[in-house]
Amino acid sequence: MCGIVGYIGEKNIKKILLHGLEELEYRGYDSAGFAILSHNELSSFKSVGKIQNLIEKTKYFETQGFGVGIGHTRWATHGKPTEINAHPHSGEFSSVVHNGIIENYAELKTMLQKKGYHFLSQTDTEVIIHLFEDNLKEQKDPLKAFEKTINSCKGAYAILLVTKIMPDKVFYAKNGSPLIIGKGEEGIYFASSDSPLVGLAKEVCYLEDGKIGVLGIEDFYTLPSIQPLNINKSFAQKEGFRYFMEKEIYEQHRVLLETLMGRIQTDTQQITLENIDDSFLEGIKSITICACGTSYHAAMVGKYLLERMAKIRVNIAIASEFRYAGFVMDKEELFISISQSGETADTLEALKLAKKHQQKTLAICNVENSSIVRESDHTILTRAGIEKGVASTKAFASQVLVLWLFALFFAQQRKTLEKKDIAQEISFMFAAIKATQVNNKMHERIKKLSKRYLHGHGFFFIGRDIFYPLALEGALKLKEISYLHAEGYPSGEMKHGPIALADSNLFTIALMPEHLLFEKIKSNVEELSARDATICAISPKECESADDMIYIPKAQSYMEEFFSMMVVLQVLALEIAIKLGNDVDMPRNLAKSVTVE
Ligand code: M6R
Repeated sequence: MCGIVGYIGEKNIKKILLHGLEELEYRGYDSAGFAILSHNELSSFKSVGKIQNLIEKTKYFETQGFGVGIGHTRWATHGKPTEINAHPHSGEFSSVVHNGIIENYAELKTMLQKKGYHFLSQTDTEVIIHLFEDNLKEQKDPLKAFEKTINSCKGAYAILLVTKIMPDKVFYAKNGSPLIIGKGEEGIYFASSDSPLVGLAKEVCYLEDGKIGVLGIEDFYTLPSIQPLNINKSFAQKEGFRYFMEKEIYEQHRVLLETLMGRIQTDTQQITLENIDDSFLEGIKSITICACGTSYHAAMVGKYLLERMAKIRVNIAIASEFRYAGFVMDKEELFISISQSGETADTLEALKLAKKHQQKTLAICNVENSSIVRESDHTILTRAGIEKGVASTKAFASQVLVLWLFALFFAQQRKTLEKKDIAQEISFMFAAIKATQVNNKMHERIKKLSKRYLHGHGFFFIGRDIFYPLALEGALKLKEISYLHAEGYPSGEMKHGPIALADSNLFTIALMPEHLLFEKIKSNVEELSARDATICAISPKECESADDMIYIPKAQSYMEEFFSMMVVLQVLALEIAIKLGNDVDMPRNLAKSVTVE
C-alpha cells in the first residue's frame, strides 16, 4: 500500500523524508521518491525497488537550512512499477504525492492533453499536478487553485503538494485515505500512518475526510482536534490492533472499495477491467483456474460464479496437482492463475505449462511486479495492499471480489445476463463490501464464544455451493493459526462418511445463508445434531438444532451473506488462536510466500 511523508522545517530534510519512508516500508512498496523545495530550488528523485536504491541515488544531494519536502512509497495500481510512474509527479514548478485512486483521471487527462499538457507517466496522480498548474493560470490564489483541483478529482486520496509559488508551505487534501499532521521540536511532519511520526512528533492532528488546506511552519495550531502522540512503533504499525492479521481483517472494507475503484461505471452500470478487451476473451470456450491454498478456495468460488453468471465451463485445479497430471489443455481455454504473492512456485510453473500449450493467460494477483504477473498475458490486480499475516484474509476477500467482477464482465460480453441483472449484482456488490465492516458486538460475542471451542477432537466446517469453499477457507484459517484439526465439507457429503466422527466433542461450524439452500443445509445440521455433534451455526436465521448461534445481519443476496460469514470465520479463528496463546501472525511451519515446490 502506498505511503506518504512530508516535512516543513530547518533540519536535514532529505534525512527526515528518507527516515519516514523507511518507517513505511512494512506496508510494502515497489518504488519510492521524494521532492524537496529549498531556496527556490525544486529537486525531485525517484527509484524503483528498495529505499536503499533511493538513498544511494541521492547520496550527494544536500540542502541547507529551511525547506519543505514530500515523499512517497508506491504500490503500483495504475501503471507498472517504473521510475516514471513513481511519485512525486512534477509539473513546471510544483510536485505532488498521492495515495488512493483518482477515479475520473482519464477524462481529466484528456481535457489537459487537449490544452497541450504532456504526460510522462501512466498514473492517475499526474493529472493532479497539471490540473493545479493549469488552475493557477486563472486563479491567482494558490489555495483556491488547489481547492479547485481537488474538487475536480473524484475518488479516494491523501495528497501533499509543494510549489514554488508558495515555497514555504505544503498543500494537503484528504478524502478516504489517512493523512496525519504532526508537530515536533524540529518542525512539522506529515504522514499517512503514525509510524513515521513516532519519536519525532509530540502532537498530531488526524485529518478528517474532506479537508483541504495549506500549512506553514507557524500554522500547526490552526488545525482542529490536536492530540498528543503517545505510542510506540510496533503499536503504530499494527494501528492499535493486537496482530497484523486482526488489522487486515478490519481493513477489508477499505481494501475492497479500492479493488472496485474505476472498475464499475456507475452511470452505465457496466464493468470495465483495465487492459482486458473483447478481443482477449474472443473464442474462449472454457476456463481453468489454478491456485494453491486460500487462493484455490477463491478459485472454487470463481467456478460457481462464472458458470452461473457467464455460462461458461470452468475447471479448477490445485497448482501442485496440475503440474504433473498431464491434463488436456485446449487452446480455446483461458488459463487463470490466482496468487496473493505472485511468487508461489507451483502456481508459477502451472502457468508456464499453460503458456507452453498456447493458452491465453490471466493473473489475478496482489503484487504488480511479481513473477506470475510478468509471465501472464494480462493481470487483474486485487489491490489488497501488503498482507503481513501469514494467514490470508484481505487477499482472499479481494480475490473473490475480482472473480465476481470478472464473472459479470464475462457475462456482459457473452450477453448471458441482462443489463438489469448486472445492475442488480452491482448493487449487491456494494452491500457485500459494506458487510465486511467488522461489527464490534459481533467481535465481542465471538471472543466470549471462542472459549468453548478450544478443545474437542476436531472441527467440521460445512456449507453448500459457494459456502463450501468458504467452509474450506474457514477450516484452513483455523488450522493455520490454532493448530487444531479442522476440515471443510460440502454439507450434503457428511452422510457419505464423515458423519461417523460425530459426537459431542466434534465441533461443527455450519454456514447457513438465508438466500441459498437454507432448508437443505438445515437438514444436514439436524442429522449431525441427532448424533450429538456440538453445532455453532452462522446465519441471519435461527437454527433450532444449533447449540450456539452467531447471527449475521439480514442481507439482500447470498454474496452479501458470504462476505459477512467470511469475516465471522476469520475472527473466530483469530480469537481461538489468541486464547490458545499462539503467534497469530507467524504460525509455526508456515511461510508467507512459498517459492519452493
Ligand atoms: O501467494 P499465494 O496466494 O499464491 O499463496 C498460496 C498459498 O500458499 C496461501 O494462500 C496459503 O494457503 C495461506 N497461508 C493461506 O492463509
